[in-house]
Parts: sequence; structure tokens; C-alpha cells
Amino acid sequence: MHHVTTLGEFIVQKQEDFPYAKGDLTSLLSTIRLASKVVNREVNKAGLVEDISGSSGEENIQGEDQQKLDIYADEVFIAAMLNRGEVCGVGSEENDEFIAFDNETSKNGRYVILMDPLDGSSNIDVNVSIGTIFSIYRRVSPVGEKAIIDDFLQPGTEQIAAGYVIYGSSTMLVYTTGNGVNGFTLDPSLGTYCLSHPNMRFPDDGKIYSINEGNYIKFPEGVKQYIKYCQVRDEDTNRPYTSRYIGSLVADYHRNMIKGGIYIYPTTESAPNGKLRLLYENNPLAFLAEQSGGVATDGYQRILTIKPNDLHQRTPLFIGSKIMVAKAMEFMKEFKNSK
Ligand code: AHG
Ligand code: MN
Ligand code: MN
Repeated sequence: MHHVTTLGEFIVQKQEDFPYAKGDLTSLLSTIRLASKVVNREVNKAGLVEDISGSSGEENIQGEDQQKLDIYADEVFIAAMLNRGEVCGVGSEENDEFIAFDNETSKNGRYVILMDPLDGSSNIDVNVSIGTIFSIYRRVSPVGEKAIIDDFLQPGTEQIAAGYVIYGSSTMLVYTTGNGVNGFTLDPSLGTYCLSHPNMRFPDDGKIYSINEGNYIKFPEGVKQYIKYCQVRDEDTNRPYTSRYIGSLVADYHRNMIKGGIYIYPTTESAPNGKLRLLYENNPLAFLAEQSGGVATDGYQRILTIKPNDLHQRTPLFIGSKIMVAKAMEFMKEFKNSK
């Protein structure tokens, strides 16, 4: 029989890439793998079970409606982290403050994790792909103590691993530890993630642009001009491009990484820093993009070098195939000062 590499086997094989990690990064990735299967089970029943569909009636710190699955996924990941002891703290889009675990095992944990437990939550009730995004850093505070804010406010270049789970027509876990990007598809009959997309590469160029064009009149001039560029016919550059926007960042990113494309969430008049969160969304996807040959910027500068000063900080995001992002950035530069 053709041998299929499972995620568990792959993680163990790759352990030698991290001489400093003493196996605890390996266990942390296994913890994420386990939690994602629990969330996956619930996501799959979203239309069936009353108590996980719909709004919770609460808002998160950013004033966004929290869905029951947002909260459920948040709790599952946090509980898994707490029980396994590899991380000393968790920062989550769904929690106002970071959580510093207060038990002895966790205080000895050498990592912190930042996550968007459920991305694309407006798509839960309509059976459209959603995801989980995670980002892992080595702590800067001393091992044995409680985590502090500085552990979380590190630039994305310091990430030691990042990835996402996409709950789509099949469920996939895609991650990087800084040695390329690999994708694993969950075989539901076995409950096992199997290596299905080894060494994923972002095509250098593409034909897909993904942006919420409903906000068009609120976009900066550079973005408006770039959209026009995408729509104009030009055989040499394969234009017009195709517009695809799911409204789940993970799903839009995943499609573009496979097919080639650009995703933009720019500033708008009402959201002067854009909508997406640097620590939970932009940094992990930027790390994955760069590791697969793509690019991620805020329109002017590389996402990964931005020094965060707030847990819930937002930045614009231009992410995708390198030729496409470079073109969009040319427009941003050219029209920087136009209103
Ligand atoms: P979340 O569900 O974690 O709050 O994220 C939603 C994000 C992202 O997934 C998506 O790309 C974007 O919001 C869509 O925003 P618009 O509806 O403004 O286009
Ligand atoms: Mn999100
Ligand atoms: Mn979310």
C-alpha cells in the first residue's frame, strides 16, 4: 500500500529542525492538531445543533458580534493549551486581555500562542468555509514566571511557527515552522491529518484579486486605481483578472496561495487602519506567504517587521503572489498623497 505520511509522523520527523526545542514545539503542534479536530467536529454539525449556531448575543473587544462557535473554538483551544503545558499564555481575538496561565507546568512553558479561533464567523450559518489561525512565539520573559505583555507584542519575524486550519469542503491544516509550508487534509474516516500538499508554493503571478469591493468609495486612491488595473483588458498580463471574495480570510488566502492571486484589505475612511488584526491574522498569514514564496505588506512595508504596540492592533493587508503585490504597491506609492 502507498504510504501516507500523517501529520503526527511529519511533526516528529521534523523535530530535528529545532535543536533548541527539546520536543516541546512538537507537542505544541500536536495540541493544536487535537484542538482543531474538536472544533472541526462542531463546525461540521453547525446546521444541526441549535446550541452552536448563531450569535451568542455578546460582542468582543472590537465591538464585533460574537458567534457561539467563536466562543466555543476559543475555549477549546485555550483548554487544550492549558492542559498540555507547552505555552505559558494565549492571546486571542476573542479576549480583551491575554491569558497568562498560572499553574506550575504552564509557567515553565517556553512559548506563547496568538490566535483567531474562528475566522470568517459571518459564514458559519451559511455553510461557507471558515478557519482557525495561529501564531507561535518563544516567550521573552523568564521561564517559570507568568507570561507578560512583551511576550505577545513581538514583530512577526520572531514567529517560530504559524498556520491555519480551514474547515472547507474538506478540512485542512496548513503550517510552517520556517522551513516551507506543508498542508495536511483530514481523513474523516480515520480522524487523521494526512500530508496532501507538501511544500506549498505561492505562484509568482496570478489572475485572482480578492477585495470587498462594496467598500470601493471608501478606499484609498491607490487601491481604486489598482482595482481598475485588474479589470482592464491586456493580453500580455492576462487581464482582466477574476474577482473572488469569500469573506473568510483563511479561505480567500488558501485559494490564492494555491491558484495565484492577491488579497487586499486596505484602510477605508471608516477603518483607518483596516480591519484585520496584525497579531492574529496578518502576521501568521504573512509568515506562511513568505515561506511559500509570496509577499505580505500593509501597502508600503513588510507586515512581519511591524513592531506591535497593542494586542488587538489592526493593519491593512496586501498579501499574495509577488508580482501582483508589487504592482498594487506601485499604485499605492504613486497615489499616496491623493485624496
Ligand atoms: P473574523 O470572523 O475572525 O472576525 O474575521 C473576519 C474577517 C476576515 O475573515 C474576512 O476576510 C473579513 O473579515 C471580511 O470583512 P468584510 O466583511 O469587511 O469584507
Ligand atoms: Mn478573522
Ligand atoms: Mn475570528
